[in-house]
Amino acid sequence: MKPFVIALDGPSAAGKGTLARRLAAHYGLAHLDTGSLYRAVGRRILREGHDPADATYAATVAQNLQPVDLQDPELRTEATSKASSIVAAIPAVRANLLAWQREFARHPPEGKHGAVLDGRDIGTVICPDADVKLFVTASLEARAGRRFRELQAAGANPIRRAVLEEMASRDRRDSERATAPLLPAPDAFVLDTSELDADTVFDRVVAFIDSKTRSRRA
Ligand code: CDP
Repeated sequence: MKPFVIALDGPSAAGKGTLARRLAAHYGLAHLDTGSLYRAVGRRILREGHDPADATYAATVAQNLQPVDLQDPELRTEATSKASSIVAAIPAVRANLLAWQREFARHPPEGKHGAVLDGRDIGTVICPDADVKLFVTASLEARAGRRFRELQAAGANPIRRAVLEEMASRDRRDSERATAPLLPAPDAFVLDTSELDADTVFDRVVAFIDSKTRSRRA
């Protein structure tokens, strides 16, 4: 049977991670945080003292990514965030990560009947035939505020203005790159979460998915 695939895209700190985990638990699906792949590539390059903009080196790292790279404790630091969006703009890096992501969607692990993939290009490039496509977004101010609080909660001492500026420049890199830019698929359900809490976002998305799958079954 063809697996049930939910493609969940959107910019940084729009609430994709929380929503993806909850959808996976609710529908019994596997979950792949595709951002962690780009983070792992960026982080390993920084750790090895190379330049994330070196396309040849970055492509080799992407091709040889190891499970242990995904366990790096510095995967979510600001330095890694920046490096990840630099390597993500390199077409050969994206090409080298593509087959693995599609395979996850086609054959979800642990015998699950489907998967939720969250990222930037899932509905447009990785899984254009996904059963459900979601695009969650929020204003830059709302997203930067969330990231600021997240960093504080993690024990860091962030500067509000710097968090906002770093996020704005990552938005620009992700949206303006030539290969697989951040973009809602034409058939995506778009939800602005600026004024919504996580429970409301979850309820609205579940209502959308259930009505869509009901109308398909009818
Ligand atoms: O956690 P946050 O939403 O801030 O970022 P992430 O989802 O972990 O992604 C980190 C970076 O990886 C993004 O800024 C993108 O440049 C890149 N990325 C991508 O290009 N395509 C994806 N499918 C996922 C992430």
